[in-house]
Amino acid sequence: MSIQTITVIGAGTMGNGIAHVSAQHGFTVTLCDVSQAALDKAMKTITGNLDRQVKKEAITEDEKNATLARITTQTSLEEAARAADLVIEAASERLEIKQQIFATLDAVCKPDAILASNTSSISITLLAGGTKRADKFIGMHFFNPVPVMKLCEIIRGLATSDETYTTVKDMAEKLSKVPVEVQDYPGFISNRILMPMINEAVYCVMEGIASIEDIDTVMKLGMAHPMGPLTLADFIGLDVCLSIMEVLHDGLGDTKYRPCPLLRKMVAAGQLGRKSGKGFYAY
Ligand code: 3HC
Repeated sequence: MSIQTITVIGAGTMGNGIAHVSAQHGFTVTLCDVSQAALDKAMKTITGNLDRQVKKEAITEDEKNATLARITTQTSLEEAARAADLVIEAASERLEIKQQIFATLDAVCKPDAILASNTSSISITLLAGGTKRADKFIGMHFFNPVPVMKLCEIIRGLATSDETYTTVKDMAEKLSKVPVEVQDYPGFISNRILMPMINEAVYCVMEGIASIEDIDTVMKLGMAHPMGPLTLADFIGLDVCLSIMEVLHDGLGDTKYRPCPLLRKMVAAGQLGRKSGKGFYAY
């Protein structure tokens, strides 16, 4: 099957990034969100990020305008999904919300449409199980900022067909991403490795081993990470980090995945990182 029309559900950071990259690579995109204000904000963000690419001479002004012209916005999930060859869901990381969205999509999408989730931690097999097309269900896990990060983890649920996998892998390559095939286990590969590292950095803060800045400096200058783990935790959101650690802890049952008590305390205090104005650093 050849993908031409893509619907992206959720106009947040990940959704607008996925819409941006898909439209930039020639796909017709519908960006859907329940909130018109969120859609307006997303279009502003996409325009700003395309402007940045024009300024860097990565794309031309004409390419920017053509990219924007390929994106339409929609508040009705049913309307947004009807014509899609592929739907990529990037809504809130809450199981009930995603299950509800996929039940609607399963009912209104074309029979051969592929349903994908950008979930960072929920089981693809579980989400697929709520639809009648588990063979056409897959995970496409993008990374923030989507226009910059080259990776797309492609997660195969237990019933994902080879045809669906190949179609989605080819599509990720058309987006100039590097797809990596991953089986469906908690945290996939990225968060299975990244989150315990971040969690351990939080333990280092809690135990007073070094200052926040120095812990980040060790990983930036010693390991050539573009951001230290505590800066990255603020960038991702401490609530997201905690919820992924819970998924690893519950799903794998090993105490090595226990979330650091300081991480829990900061989330309880509403110190969620960049989005709340305060995390390990102040913004
Ligand atoms: N859209 C388009 N381009 C962007 C952009 C955006 N939103 N944000 C940054 N860029 C571009 C810049 O224009 C610049 O382009 P250039 O190389 O052509 O000059 C380049 O990216 C670098 O940006 P900056 O110079 O502004 O800043 P930095 O050099 O500090 O890079 C960064 C910023 C790319 C965010 C870098 O710090 C980085 O790679 N950080 C790590 C990010 C990371 O680990 N992301 C994954 C998070 S985990 C996740 O998403 C999964 C989830 O499940 C938790």
